Amino acid sequence: MAKAAASFLLDHPNWHYVLQEFYLAYRFGPAGGSAEIRRHQRVVQSCISRCLNSEPRLTPQTPEAKPVVAHLGRALDNGETDRMASFIRALAKITDELNWQYGYDRMPRSLQKKYAYAELLGPRGPVQCEDLILGLVLFSPKCTYPAHSHVEITESYLCLSGSLSENDAGVYPPGALILNQANREHAITTSDREPVLLAYAWTGPAEALCGFKMSFAGGKPAAGKG
Ligand SMILES: [Fe+2]
Repeated sequence: MAKAAASFLLDHPNWHYVLQEFYLAYRFGPAGGSAEIRRHQRVVQSCISRCLNSEPRLTPQTPEAKPVVAHLGRALDNGETDRMASFIRALAKITDELNWQYGYDRMPRSLQKKYAYAELLGPRGPVQCEDLILGLVLFSPKCTYPAHSHVEITESYLCLSGSLSENDAGVYPPGALILNQANREHAITTSDREPVLLAYAWTGPAEALCGFKMSFAGGKPAAGKG
């Protein structure tokens, strides 16, 4: 992937504001009385705080779209009217700079127009951080993201727009946080009418974050962003 010359986050205030929104969401978002969720929120907020205070590099990536990005405008419009509006407004300032990916060498046809993710921070950038990955996932309406798990990596999804269900166990609107502990299988579905935009955070050993390989094993994603 062609990259522009490295610069610093301080040179890109719109990116700083997005990361600030992540920090605020994990610092002040409710934990629903769950000690495990609160612990994860603290790890994420602590990593973001440490990263922002270290004046990290930001290496701009070549903007790249995937078919599902045609739903992004609708997702942003919907999100602006809901409780994550401040986060959505900050994101809208950097959407032209995002590098949307599948992450898998082979994508099932059923997902090619319905899913993509964009990393914002992590060992691979664009904002450099060794112990945390932050990014976005966009799903079209009527999307089923197959069951998968993440080896050694704990994942949380923060719903920014639309509503999703996970493992048929609940419906999560904007502001809801879902915690997927390492190795826990989970599948996602989205509603019939509206797209879903999620923010996600991955925590785990630096080697796992740096070296994870998104691949299908036995027809399932072994590690993915969904
Ligand atoms: Fe996942």
